[in-house]
Amino acid sequence: MTRPLRFNAFVMHTNSHIQHGHWRRPDARQVDFQDVDLWIDLARLLEDAKFDAMFFADVTGLYGDADADFEVYARHGLQIPSHDPTVLLGALAVSTTDLGLALTSNVAQNHPFNFARQVSTLDHISRGRIAWNIVTGTQDNGARNFGLPQLTDHSERYRWAQEYVDVVYKLWEGSWDDGALLKDKERGIYADASKIHKIYHEGPRYRVEGPHLPSPSPQRTPLLFQAGSSASGRRFAAANAEATFIIAPSPAIAKRQIDETRALAVEYGREPDDITFFQGLSFIIGDTEIEAHEKAEEYERYASTEGYLAHSALVDKTGRVYDPKTPLKDIDTNTARGFLSWTSQAVTDREPLVEDVALISRRSSRVVGTPDQIADRLVEWQAAGIDGVNVVNWVLPGSFEEFAEKVLPVLRERGLAQSEYAPGPLRQKLFGSPLLNERHPAARYRGAFAHGATTWAEADDLRAQGLLPAAV
Ligand SMILES: Cc1cc2nc3c(=O)[nH]c(=O)nc-3n(C[C@H](O)[C@H](O)[C@H](O)COP(=O)(O)O)c2cc1C
Repeated sequence: MTRPLRFNAFVMHTNSHIQHGHWRRPDARQVDFQDVDLWIDLARLLEDAKFDAMFFADVTGLYGDADADFEVYARHGLQIPSHDPTVLLGALAVSTTDLGLALTSNVAQNHPFNFARQVSTLDHISRGRIAWNIVTGTQDNGARNFGLPQLTDHSERYRWAQEYVDVVYKLWEGSWDDGALLKDKERGIYADASKIHKIYHEGPRYRVEGPHLPSPSPQRTPLLFQAGSSASGRRFAAANAEATFIIAPSPAIAKRQIDETRALAVEYGREPDDITFFQGLSFIIGDTEIEAHEKAEEYERYASTEGYLAHSALVDKTGRVYDPKTPLKDIDTNTARGFLSWTSQAVTDREPLVEDVALISRRSSRVVGTPDQIADRLVEWQAAGIDGVNVVNWVLPGSFEEFAEKVLPVLRERGLAQSEYAPGPLRQKLFGSPLLNERHPAARYRGAFAHGATTWAEADDLRAQGLLPAAV
């Protein structure tokens, strides 16, 4: 039976996000991304078209070598300038009613206590429509902006992320019991302290006492996205994510990645369907096949290879992008391993080169055709196991306008896109319940802090007796 796919609009609070060079097109309004009205209008357009969510990517610094020139990035407006998505979501939350609002936040950029508070606040303001894309960073410059000498080693980044999510899960799920907020004017009790708990988290990086300051928001924990594709990235997703964002070069590669991650989720005590997969795809839409291919040629004229390579951090010590003919195996990177490994998987008949990364970034996740042909391709992706699509744009708002006008009606006719929103918070729309299910690791913190400890010494005693969760 055909199931509707989910659709997210993949965007970033910047000029040039994924499809580089296209900001120069006459109809590209992303050049004015500083204007909040651009985003409010886009969010309303997406909501009218019944998109599930607007998904904001984000970074905390420059790509490439941290000591290199960043002229190429500024010249392309490639994620510099870029603005904070979290702040923008407040404006979008009050301008929409059903659209999910996903933010990306790196574990290095915000202390988990503060982050948990910001997200709970946004989840209240949006009435339960916030999702968090958990990222560990890919940039040395981004790490240096937070006082680190360089990007933390790959596997240590994931250990860090594990402790980080542990802290926020404790705050979101364990610090406040249901029914703690009374608002009882008669008895003069606003909140019942006996149902609000300190968490006494103590781990390698964080020591957080609690309690969580906000009252529980509609979803408590926001919907959890994750986008790592390495082995440790996939393990982290399998343990924690409810939605995983992939940009696989083909349905076959996606299927392998999805099957492996679902199998891993079972190892972590979850069910295969507890985790959903969103493939990033861009679309070139024509009323006829010929028109679509003509448009694709025109799009190629705007595409900037330099921009795509710079985005993949394929930049040398002087800030110039690597010679496109350099073999990929000669590139040493601690950063975007996932991207490089996809390219190596996609190019099997010869030595993969730097230029293949640019080509694959813009071509393999691109679907060119009529709305019916696009629907046929989406059926193939669905058969590979994807649950939804992160629609990658060329121009704002035109790419989404066109998708909404031309493709979604055809998808709806074929049962591949929803016509109405399901009621309730984002997680309820997607999974049928506003709260994380009991198989998710965060669920173990529900009721786990009703221990009555009021000092760290008491908390340590309880921990020693196994009555308080130990640090992961
Ligand atoms: C499709 C996709 C989208 C991503 N989006 C972001 C992002 O917006 N911000 C960010 O800092 N990292 C982003 N990442 C990076 C990942 O979160 C992760 O840190 C990186 O891929 C390195 O981990 P890995 O080796 O497990 O892939 C993205 C990765 C992928 C694969």
